[in-house]
Amino acid sequence: MDKPLRACVIGHPIVHSRSPLIHGHWLEQYGIKGAYEKLDVAPAILADFLSEIRLGSWLGCNVTIPHKQAVMTLVDSVADEARKIGAANTLWLEDGKLKATNTDAYGFAANMDDFAPDWREAQTCLIIGAGGAARAVVHACKEAGISDVTITNRTTERADELASEFSVHSVQLIEALQNLDLYQVIINTTSAGMGDIPPLPINFKSARSGTIAADIVYAPLNTQFLLDARTHGLRTVDGLGMLLHQAVPGFEKWFGQRPVVDTSLRRLILDDLGEP
Ligand code: ATR
Repeated sequence: MDKPLRACVIGHPIVHSRSPLIHGHWLEQYGIKGAYEKLDVAPAILADFLSEIRLGSWLGCNVTIPHKQAVMTLVDSVADEARKIGAANTLWLEDGKLKATNTDAYGFAANMDDFAPDWREAQTCLIIGAGGAARAVVHACKEAGISDVTITNRTTERADELASEFSVHSVQLIEALQNLDLYQVIINTTSAGMGDIPPLPINFKSARSGTIAADIVYAPLNTQFLLDARTHGLRTVDGLGMLLHQAVPGFEKWFGQRPVVDTSLRRLILDDLGEP
């Protein structure tokens, strides 16, 4: 019997994942008779679920909170990128082996390429935040060739630790925010400004014109960070494209077709987010 052409996203909880909408759109667009589901997988049954993939019940899966670190110890091989970032979000079977990679850095970079392609020419960037999302962004900025990457964070020790791990600079948040003119790209990777969490008190007045401000938050799409940046004449990149682009490599590995992130996909997710 043929193996099922299906992939999924696993997490715990998983209800809010938009991955089924993204992959479902591509399956329809490319006329692929496959499926993409979302599964609530509790930590206690994670290893059992990965065995199901090895047995061929699934082509692979996306992985979200809280499994992004745990899966790395349970698969057969971990791509360099995931190892450096310290988390995996995409799993697939290849030559009978269960492999893992991280596509968040790719997603971030591809979104920047779409909306501010000259970001790769920047020499300086400031990354605000030191959590899991910041790790992927630091990796992407280094890979893009930005020579002077600086991390800042509410909890300074976390910024210092991350900076030392990735061999970049760190600076206290208050100092960073007072010297925004030093940076050509300023990126928010914190959850500040998302849902009910108050936004960071950033005054972009001191930033240079031409500076790019990017947020990885996409709900709301126009975060206070981006609105303030725009008010001061900065160029801005919102977080939705990172979500869309990070899905591309998984779809290609599972279904054999490299999908395109286009305006119809963006519109679909904007509608789901209730954004005009
Ligand atoms: P993720 O994996 O999504 O990055 P995380 O590891 O919990 O999540 O990290 C969240 C980031 O947002 C951290 O940098 C956090 O700062 P702390 O390390 O000081 O906790 C930052 N963050 C969350 N809420 C914030 C707020 N209200 N103001 C400033 N930074 C905030």
